[in-house]
Amino acid sequence: MVKISPSILSADFANLERDIRRVASADYLHVDVMDGAFVPNLTIGVPVVKSIRKCTDMFLDVHLMIEKPQRYIEAFAQAGADLLSVHLEADHPTGIARALDLMDQCGVKKAVALRPITKAEAVLPYLERLDLVLVMTVEPGFGGQAFMESQLDTIRQVRALIEKYNPACELEVDGGISPKTAPLVVEAGADVLVAGSAVYGAADPAAAIAALRG
Ligand code: DX5
Ligand code: ZN
Repeated sequence: MVKISPSILSADFANLERDIRRVASADYLHVDVMDGAFVPNLTIGVPVVKSIRKCTDMFLDVHLMIEKPQRYIEAFAQAGADLLSVHLEADHPTGIARALDLMDQCGVKKAVALRPITKAEAVLPYLERLDLVLVMTVEPGFGGQAFMESQLDTIRQVRALIEKYNPACELEVDGGISPKTAPLVVEAGADVLVAGSAVYGAADPAAAIAALRG
């Protein structure tokens, strides 16, 4: 069954513990970290992840939308992240490889993320050592944007590369996921769906999670 990772970007930050409890039936908890440079928005940092870790046992799937992410791997790992995703566009290949090395040293799961402009083949230098690949289906930076159907091809291509080089790696899709778009991305090969507005915009988040599972 497809896994669901609710994005707390759409939660009420003044009631974050309550809103995390509301999605306890999900598989992962998606935390969007933005630096105001890699993306034009500022969100959550290390101290917030630390506080989240104290109030839940959920698997923390931390999406780093920050430049030169190797600078912060140890800090987010120590704060309690279970998996860290770094954007391939956020540094030179040596910096990405260094970030993955640091994840190994810190004992967290390793992922790379792709902006819509980035080709599927860009994962190849790293794929064999990854636990997850995150394909964006919106431009990173904000919740509530429209799903980019043109990304279904990239999802299919990444799926094919995963099958060939590292079948244990998960494929996560992030952006504009709703009960309408979820079946399309699952059909294209997604294992994990991130959903912010579809979960937190619903009157009953648990029912919304079940609806996304299909
Ligand atoms: C966007 C973030 C997403 C965002 C998704 O940059 O990476 O995780 O929260 O929000 P929705 O599901 O509303 O598109
Ligand atoms: Zn995200």
